[in-house]
Formats: sequence, structure tokens, C-alpha cells
Amino acid sequence: MIKLSPSILAADPLNMGGALKLVKEAHADELHFDVMDAHFVPNLSFGPSLLKAMKQQDGEVVYDVHLMLSDPIQYVDVFAQAGASIITIHQEANDFVACLEKIRSLGLQVGASLKPATPADVLIPVLPLLDRVLLMTVEPGFGGQKLMPEVLDKARQLRAMGFAGDIEADGGIGLGNMKQLADSGINVLVMGTSFFKAEDPAAVAAAVHTL
Ligand code: DX5
Ligand code: ZN
Repeated sequence: MIKLSPSILAADPLNMGGALKLVKEAHADELHFDVMDAHFVPNLSFGPSLLKAMKQQDGEVVYDVHLMLSDPIQYVDVFAQAGASIITIHQEANDFVACLEKIRSLGLQVGASLKPATPADVLIPVLPLLDRVLLMTVEPGFGGQKLMPEVLDKARQLRAMGFAGDIEADGGIGLGNMKQLADSGINVLVMGTSFFKAEDPAAVAAAVHTL
């Protein structure tokens, strides 16, 4: 089954509790929690206190934490304590391999993300360490951008390399292109705008689940 991970970057910032409820009621599989440091990407978003509050409100949700940070290794502990289920860091960030090992040592699922221009083969040495690969289908930093379809080749390449973990795609995903993504070997779809701005987010989740 294809999984859906709605990105709360597109949710109403004054109603994060409502966003959490929406994710739950729509039967989305995960909640995508984007963390930005205004250095790795030119934007700021949320910190661990929001994640902790969400975890306290709903401990069952799978919190899919995407760290767009230059030095993720300094923040892994605090996001683990706050309630992350999965922590994904960028291959382009500092101390990449040590940070993957640290996430693993904390007992969490381990993810590695690639910006659109980074080739899939940089992950060959670390594939055995990974539960998931997150392919950015836009330049990270902002919601509401247009998907770059050439990134889908990386999903095909990773499957051809024998990677059997989750392949997640992030950025510009919606009802119009989700089938194309699933056909390329991607099995986790992040949706910000297309989920939270939809008239009926539950119908969006249902459509993903029938792919
Ligand atoms: C971008 C973030 C995405 C973003 C996706 O840097 O990593 O998760 O929220 O938003 P949409 O689905 O609106 O492109
Ligand atoms: Zn993201």
C-alpha cells in the first residue's frame, strides 16, 4: 500500500491541534514534520516543542521528522526525546554517516534525504543503514512548489540497486501526479498543500490508499 505523510508546513499555524486531528481522522499513515534552520535552507519552521506537544496530544501517530539542518547531529537527541518515530537527515549536511548511526542508536527509523541535484548513487555506501530514502522533488525550504519529474529516475535507480526500504517523495505532490510517483517505486508520499488545502483531506488520503 502507498502511504501518505501530510506535511504540517501547509497546515493552519494557529490550529496545529486541528491539523493533528485531521491527519488522524483521514487515516493518513504518518505526519511529516519539517524542521528548517535558515542555513541549510532559506527558511525557518518548527522546533521540538511543537513536536512534543503533538506527541503528548496523540502518542499513536507516526511522526516523520525531516531535518533540513546543516548540523542535524546536534538536534537528533532532542527530536528523539520530543517524540520522533522516523528521523530523516540530508546527505548534503555535515557528519552524515555519524548522524545516521546516532539515529539508529536511539532506536528510531533512519532516513536519508537527497536534494534534487544530488545523485542516488551517493547513498550506495549507506543503504544498509537506511529504513528510508526521502527524495526531494522540489528544492527544500518551501511548500507549494512544482514537482521536478526527473527526480523519479532516482527512485527507479534505488529499486534497481535492490533497496527494499521506504522511498518517500516530498514536494509538489498531489492527485494529478501521485500515480506516476507510485509507478516509479516510491511508496510514501508527502503532501502539504494538496492535503491541508483540500476541501476533503480524507478523500485525498483514500485516493492515495487506492493507488
Ligand atoms: C519543503 C518541505 C515539504 C513541503 C511540501 O522543503 O520539505 O515537506 O512541506 O509541501 P507541498 O506538498 O505543498 O509541496
Ligand atoms: Zn519535508
